[in-house]
Amino acid sequence: MATNMDSKVFANILRLKEKRQAIILAHSYQSEEVQQIADYVGDSFGLSVQAKENSAQVVVFCGVHFMAESAYILAPHKTILLPEKTAGCPLADTIDYEGLQAAKAQYPNATVVCYINSSAKVKSISDICCTSSNALQVITGVDNDQILFVPDKNLAHYVAQHTKKQIIPWAGACVTHQRVSLNDVALIRQHHPDAVIAVHPECEPEIVDQADFVGSTTAIIQYAVSCTQTKVVIGTEMGVVTQLKAKCPTKTFYLLAPGLVCPNMKKTRLQSIEKALIHMETKITVSEDIRIQAKTALERMLTYK
Ligand code: 13P
Repeated sequence: MATNMDSKVFANILRLKEKRQAIILAHSYQSEEVQQIADYVGDSFGLSVQAKENSAQVVVFCGVHFMAESAYILAPHKTILLPEKTAGCPLADTIDYEGLQAAKAQYPNATVVCYINSSAKVKSISDICCTSSNALQVITGVDNDQILFVPDKNLAHYVAQHTKKQIIPWAGACVTHQRVSLNDVALIRQHHPDAVIAVHPECEPEIVDQADFVGSTTAIIQYAVSCTQTKVVIGTEMGVVTQLKAKCPTKTFYLLAPGLVCPNMKKTRLQSIEKALIHMETKITVSEDIRIQAKTALERMLTYK
């Protein structure tokens, strides 16, 4: 329940948002209060489209660093604010520019497909980006049978199962999704045998194999709302369950494993947004040479809906 303090901050954010002519974008992993104040809540793909196409000149990006960076790459004339500057992505940090250069030297004929969970510098030497919502379409559309897929090995494994192309994975993974174990799946099946399980492809392959549905956060939400089952188990960050409970009160949603919380996503609070709009901080930018190269890879991605 909202406290007096929360409602004051909420009202102040709305006032500041108007004054700054800003839009608030939030990833589905954000807390309930942040999702409530956001103008748009979505997955990495939807957020990139919004950042690029929305006419607001100030974007408060409630997510993690690579998301705000991608927004700047696509819309450098806008002011992109990341309310919590230390909100990073350990998965994105598993690969750097030098690491990708070395992998490219090892596979000189491969096309580099880079998950959006990566730095601008990594994107700048990739051929095309993808998100979890269009990774399969991107792989299919690439005119090469050998693909270096970075940095998520679980998403790489998932796409490899749906293509005849050779997928060479980087060994990164998301610490939050990695937490789901086969034991969690067995327990859920035992306690809720009539429920369906929907998971994110960042989960381990053995978990993905057990799921009834695999997709991005937005795809999971659409599936959970529209499927005929009234009990749905969610195998991704808990923010998705929060959103589903609000969207679909007639169904019951369970989290597949305890501790499915992304600590970086949860750093942003209402107070962070308020501060960001007061001080116009933290502005995220990318050097122009890197931005131009990374933009090519990101814009190619946006052609795959
Ligand atoms: P999507 O937003 O594509 O579902 O991916 C989730 C994620 O990796 C956020 O870091």
